[in-house]
Amino acid sequence: MDPRIAVIDKRLEQIGNIIAVSGGKGGIGKSSVASMLALILTHANKRIGLLDLDFCGPSTHVILGIRDVYPREEKGIVPPVVHNMKFMSIVFYAGDKPSPLRGNDVSNVIIELLSITQWGTLDFLIIDMPPGISDTTLDAIRLIRRTQFLNVSTPSKLAFETVKKVLQMQKELALPIIGVIENMKTADSTYIADAVKALHIPYLGSVSHDDRFESTLGDVEGLASTRFAADMYDIVRHTGVFDVHKER
Ligand SMILES: Nc1ncnc2c1ncn2[C@@H]1O[C@H](COP(=O)(O)OP(=O)(O)OP(=O)(O)O)[C@@H](O)[C@H]1O
Ligand SMILES: [Mg+2]
Repeated sequence: MDPRIAVIDKRLEQIGNIIAVSGGKGGIGKSSVASMLALILTHANKRIGLLDLDFCGPSTHVILGIRDVYPREEKGIVPPVVHNMKFMSIVFYAGDKPSPLRGNDVSNVIIELLSITQWGTLDFLIIDMPPGISDTTLDAIRLIRRTQFLNVSTPSKLAFETVKKVLQMQKELALPIIGVIENMKTADSTYIADAVKALHIPYLGSVSHDDRFESTLGDVEGLASTRFAADMYDIVRHTGVFDVHKER
């Protein structure tokens, strides 16, 4: 028994909702959705933490333009506050160097991060999950017990084939599923909405493919002015768990 595991529940106890942005498939917009969700919720005056658990390709710091900040050590690790959110990522430790990890090493880093990080009181901790359903996903399920899953898919049948497996796994494990966001929508198809509803999982809405999104990466004001942000705001407003009702 690893004594750090017992500490994790205590470290997370003042957090209202823990939301893992997942989907299994690579490149479908998990990190973009997680970063935008965190930004939108801070604008709605929620107390937010963002945890990047993608050790192979951490990217939320790039999306949100987070640089030159570091956690502080004080009875554990206190995440820096950037754009009004507490931010934690492997990049603080690995920098720009690759961090190839496998099996036990992955678990070790996750346990370490979760047991030392002092989030304090938060309304939401948003977790950016890596692609795949292997070590990190299984560890997150095992170690972060109250996690609710917010899944992303693209309109592609190919992407959904993988996302569907993740959804089925979440259902089989009786994990709380908030629903599915369809990202990078271009045409007017109901394929994903129908397929999600057929699994008795909430379809939360779609985010358009936004040509401007890429050029605003790293600039939070630019990001906030995109169609991506507007679409995500609509989804946040209509999804009960976020408790955001204000009209813009
Ligand atoms: N709605 C959108 N419109 C335009 N571009 C988008 C949209 N959503 C995401 N992208 C772009 O798609 C790419 C992949 O997005 P992102 O990194 O968020 O995906 P991911 O699922 O986190 O990937 P990974 O599996 O590698 O972690 C990025 O270049 C991002 O800028
Ligand atoms: Mg990602």
